[in-house]
Amino acid sequence: IKDWNNIDQVVLRSPRGASARVSLHGGQVISWRNERGEELLFTSSKAILKPPKAMRGGISIYFPQFGNCGMLEQHGFARNRMWSIDNEPPPTPSNDGNGKVSVDLLLKPSEDDLKCWPHCFEFRLRVSLAMDGNLTMVSRIRNIDAKPFSFSFAYHTYLSVSDISEVRIEGLETLDYLDNLCQRERFTEQGDAITFESEVDRVYLGSPNIVAVLDHEKKRTFVIRKEGLPDVVVWNPWERKSKTMVDFGDEEYKQTLCVDGALIERPVNLKPGEEWTAKLELSAIPSTYCSDH
Ligand code: BG6
Repeated sequence: IKDWNNIDQVVLRSPRGASARVSLHGGQVISWRNERGEELLFTSSKAILKPPKAMRGGISIYFPQFGNCGMLEQHGFARNRMWSIDNEPPPTPSNDGNGKVSVDLLLKPSEDDLKCWPHCFEFRLRVSLAMDGNLTMVSRIRNIDAKPFSFSFAYHTYLSVSDISEVRIEGLETLDYLDNLCQRERFTEQGDAITFESEVDRVYLGSPNIVAVLDHEKKRTFVIRKEGLPDVVVWNPWERKSKTMVDFGDEEYKQTLCVDGALIERPVNLKPGEEWTAKLELSAIPSTYCSDH
């Protein structure tokens, strides 16, 4: 289907009624709903839906860099480009059946991209929705150049939460992190689950492959499973920064938390002919509480 800018979108529907919507602009997942039709990803009410910039929300891809350096756009160009449907997708693993629906997208550098980042690559992205509503994204980046190249990567994921002050992250305790609010200085997280009471912009290093985001008020837990992505970016702009972003509502920081499976501290060095793969799987499960009443 087309959006109102005439950009193609692909809607995936599981037999039980979960759905996901993927835009060819950026290869961005712009919606993910559970069987009850509840939206699980945040999209800003002020999001700018018109290219060239990625819209504020959903899951966008950071490639080939995290942050802002050199001639490249902030967080790389992949999220701002038009992707195409991949007509030669990689084979589906035989254990991938069971009512899974997916779309395969492809990004190749344009002439302009090559001026800022002179490396030939093929980036294949598969977005799948499983029978149980889990959302999976698999990225395959192949070096089709004659020389090696390095890159960083993230699945920039805006989770929808009821109230940021009721949310906590489990799985990042005791890890080292780079603090983007202090020139990427390195700190060590203390023992407790991470909670939020001010702006946070950190890259947690060498994290376990499962991280959980617990939304106490909504009684929902997001489970993030990742492969090939050692780091996790945690970002919430809080009040002051929200007011500086034109495509983000002043109060919307309360309803979202970005938790990104990422590879940042040690960029990949990919040799000619080599392929790098990374996978992210998201599930949203109702939390079971030991009753406190
Ligand atoms: C996060 C970064 O991943 O993305 C933040 O850690 C940044 O530093 C944020 O502000 C949003 O970036 P952008 O380019 O989408 O506004």
